[in-house]
Order: sequence, then structure tokens, then C-alpha cells
Amino acid sequence: MERQFLYRHMLVNALPVYPPESGDLQAWMMRKRTTIGWSRFLAFLRQLCRSLSIANSLHVLRQLVHFGPWRWMAIGVIRWRRPCLKTYRQEKSALAHFELSKTLKELRTDSFSFFGSIDSDLTRKLVRLVSHLPPEEYLYAHEVSEDVAALAYDPAIWNLLRHYFGCEPVLLESSLFVSKAEHSMPVLDQHKFHFDYAGWQSLNVFVYLTDVDAGDSYHQVIKGSHRSIGFWDILRGTLSEDRVSRRFEGRIQSVFGPEGSLFFENTEAFHRRVRGKSRRVMLNLLYASHRGLFSHGRASAAQIAHRDTVFQRARACVAQELSG
Ligand SMILES: [Fe+2]
Repeated sequence: MERQFLYRHMLVNALPVYPPESGDLQAWMMRKRTTIGWSRFLAFLRQLCRSLSIANSLHVLRQLVHFGPWRWMAIGVIRWRRPCLKTYRQEKSALAHFELSKTLKELRTDSFSFFGSIDSDLTRKLVRLVSHLPPEEYLYAHEVSEDVAALAYDPAIWNLLRHYFGCEPVLLESSLFVSKAEHSMPVLDQHKFHFDYAGWQSLNVFVYLTDVDAGDSYHQVIKGSHRSIGFWDILRGTLSEDRVSRRFEGRIQSVFGPEGSLFFENTEAFHRRVRGKSRRVMLNLLYASHRGLFSHGRASAAQIAHRDTVFQRARACVAQELSG
């Protein structure tokens, strides 16, 4: 039976999307790097749209298609085309005592579920590496860190994704956001309540890699808001404070936790980053029910090359620390 699923995937999706059950995960990731073929071309097109100032109009148009009444039909087709595979890497999960049914229930009703701390060894390794990264956004971090790759393909997370989407998921992005103190910086769109989307169904996994408290740049989500996105939300993109208190009173969830805290969130829920007074590092793994054309080309070749250099330097610092 599994073989049948596999063949269907290979026929429809050209290549299987899951990592090998054994062998070098990092080597597998390197073969699937993001800067090849279509990705470079789409990164160029994306840049062109920005320079012609039509990126925003195209974005709104895409959202109107995405949230249209036909989306449930599209989700059904994706579920048929991408049946869940039964196999995944069997290594120990970094999410001990993970409760599948509780998490699924919370995600469906509240758009959000807080897991708690991941494996302490993995946290230590990730924190050690990111402590050497300057403030910036690093895309596709799983390509340059085997610890990020291990978490991105954790069996407990993939089990949840398969149940939540009802089809074989795909990892679209893994971004490390290293932000500096932001309290005196101008308010950007990420600081206002907004929603994102990717594929017909999508889920974010967030992991704090610094301690995050009320004075830090913490994450906020409006519970259950993934079911409330309307026409005007699509046109506006962000919500004013006034609208938030009128529409969603008592439903704002602030997320605090020590380094290693992991939480799940429906990508389409309203969320924001509150401007804090210190450096904060957060890993964001973005999964979807499939990979669409527009998920390619998020990073330019120059950004990827810069990321590689910075990570090489960070890894050298870690090696020096460990040997000294
Ligand atoms: Fe966002």
C-alpha cells in the first residue's frame, strides 16, 4: 500500500517530498537547495514586481483567489493528489510527550497551540549557533544547520501536519529571525496584526531561541481568527488597534517562554510581533499542504550566499568554543 502512495506522489509531484528514512539528512537537504532553476527566475520576477510597484496589487489579487469560496474544493483536490505517506524518519522526537489530539483540537478552535520546551540538548545546540548570528533574517536555515533540519523533519511534527492537513505536507521555509531591540524603531507591518498564507492549508511552527518575556519582542496571536478573515481584511492587510478591540476582545494570546519553547499556529490567524527591548531569536518553520509556484524564489542568490558565509563563520565560532 505504501508503495502505491509513493508511486502516486512520484507521478504527480515529480519527486517525493519527504527526507530519506536513513542516511545523511543534511546531504539530502543540500540536493534540494532553493537557489536552483525556477527559484532564481521567480526571485527575479518578484524583484521586478516590487520595482514596478505592482507587488501589492498582485498580493491582494492572490489573497482574493486564496480565500474565495472555492478553496474547499481546492483543498479536496490537494488531499486526493497528495495522500499521506505512512513513513517518516524514525529518530527520536525532540517533542517528548507530544499530545496529538489536544494539539489538533486547539489548532482547529484557537488557531494556536503551545507545546512547551523541546529537547534540551537540541535547544542548547541551536542556541549556541544562533548566539553568533548578527541581527537579520536567515532564510532556509535547514540547509545550513543540521539541527534546524532535524527539527524541521521531526516525526511528531510531521505526524501532526499529516493529521491537520489531511495530506502529505511539505516544508516551504525555515527562517531564523534574529531581531535587535525594537522598542524605539518605527512600527512596521509585522508589528501590526496581519495574516499570512501559503498553499491552500498552512501551519507555522515557532521556536524561541532566546528567553522571551513581557519586555522582549514577544509573539501575539488572535485566537480563532483564522476562521474570521473577510473581504475587507484582504483589502486592508492589517488591523488597527481599534478594530482589534472591537472584533476580538479577550481573544489576544501573548506568547512567552524560555529558550526552546515551541508553539504551533495556523498561518492564516491574525498575529504580530510586539516591539521589545532586547535581542530576540525565533525559528519559524512554515509547512503547507503542497508547494505552489509562488512559494519559490523567496530568496535571491546573493541572500543565500550571504547566509552561507554568516553560518560558516558562526559554525567556526562554535567549534572554537567547544575546543577551548
Ligand atoms: Fe506574519
